[in-house]
Amino acid sequence: MAGAPAMAVSGGLSRADAYARADALTALGRKMFFDPSLSASHALACASCHAPSAGFSPADAAPIRFGGPHLDQPGGRAVPSLTYIEVTPAFTEHEFDGEEEGDPSVDNGPTGGLDWDGRADRGRDQARFPLLAPNEMANASPAAVVASVRAAPYAGEVRALSGGSDDAALFRTVVAALEAFEQDPATFYPYTSKFDAYLAGKATLSNAEARGLKLFEDEDKGNCASCHRSQVDATGTPPQFTDYGMIALGLPRNPAIPANKDPNFYDLGLCGPYRTDFAGEADYCGLFKTPSLRNVARRKTFFHNGVFTSLRDAVAFYVYRDVQPERFYPRRADGSVAIYDDLPERYRQNLNQDPPFGGKPGDRPALTEAEIDDVVAFLKTLDDGYQPPHAGVSSSR
Ligand code: HEC
Ligand code: HEC
Repeated sequence: MAGAPAMAVSGGLSRADAYARADALTALGRKMFFDPSLSASHALACASCHAPSAGFSPADAAPIRFGGPHLDQPGGRAVPSLTYIEVTPAFTEHEFDGEEEGDPSVDNGPTGGLDWDGRADRGRDQARFPLLAPNEMANASPAAVVASVRAAPYAGEVRALSGGSDDAALFRTVVAALEAFEQDPATFYPYTSKFDAYLAGKATLSNAEARGLKLFEDEDKGNCASCHRSQVDATGTPPQFTDYGMIALGLPRNPAIPANKDPNFYDLGLCGPYRTDFAGEADYCGLFKTPSLRNVARRKTFFHNGVFTSLRDAVAFYVYRDVQPERFYPRRADGSVAIYDDLPERYRQNLNQDPPFGGKPGDRPALTEAEIDDVVAFLKTLDDGYQPPHAGVSSSR
């Protein structure tokens, strides 16, 4: 960059200065992400819930986390992974994507946004929630966050990047730094999975992985790719394994979530209660955002309510939901199966019924047990950090 003519890009910053500022924000965000002193308990960092080893989701299989000043306030949902969220589109109620769906007049419905219900649009908006949420980092106010920041070893960096030292300016820098860190490619979207190597012609899928990919894409079998897209798009962006659509899957209720002790409480996703702008919008009840499946094999809990703790069980749910519901849902006193027990009856027309769902109890499942194993084998190729077998290791010299 040295010697390049200084070009004004924005706010009077030269291009080189803008890059330097972005780098400084990212480095600062990384420090804050791992800093428990930013929470009221002084014991909870972003990384306590979003652990790097698990694709930035929790390192253990507890369905929800506890936060608050004394770490006794339960969360309501499983913690999502943070890898590959940087290209999440802003939330919209009406998504028209002619290129992928073949017909630009088709309204694909609510799509995008951060969190399981899409209620935050940008990392900096999202970062306010955990910092201030009473059951997460539980700071009483932005000023409380700033007070911790002023006492942190990186206080000088925050001030230097803020262009002011009032609370509002410092807090803006805090959330901008966290957002910048979440957009760091090497950390959050490296595209170093075996599947990426395979797309680049640098790795071969095993037989099971190759069969799994086929089943994942086959519209009559797994049909997974209809939502978890697996193709490079027209702009050349590698597949994100999500179309960001909001869908009702009818997951079993998770009794381990404290809020579910109240039989009248339902987490209905897009229509509330955590999201409030679509309260009473019956068509939206039970809908949650389709997550990326990159690094999914690193997760310890699956789906918005963390009801499954193994990837195989998560895949089997799709296959058996309608044909063997007794595998997942509890029985009522009369012995009948309480299918879709986490979605009140009046919202059940919202449930997705496309393959691999559909059919009635006793029908043949869309995938065999061996095919479920193949899909799981394929999903494991989506973990970043793939090391190709060392060339020449087995060959004679
Ligand atoms: C106590 C656990 C906990 C802590 C601490 C925490 N988070 Fe989260 N995070 C969650 C949960 C739970 C969700 C999902 C919330 C929802 O969908 O309603 C989430 C969602 C997110 C999302 C949206 C991801 C997506 O796929 O849409 C981002 C981004 C995020 N957190 C970043 C952060 C940052 C940055 C911090 C630190 C400032 C942080 N989190 C601290 C539990 C936590
Ligand atoms: C109709 C759209 C759709 C189809 C088809 C679909 N999924 Fe999903 N998938 C979703 C949505 C939506 C969620 C999140 C739902 C929730 O948590 O309530 C999800 C979540 C998941 C999760 C949990 C991820 C996490 O971060 O917790 C896995 C694993 C998964 N899907 C795998 C698959 C596989 C394998 C297939 C094919 C057999 C498939 N999906 C087919 C929409 C779909």
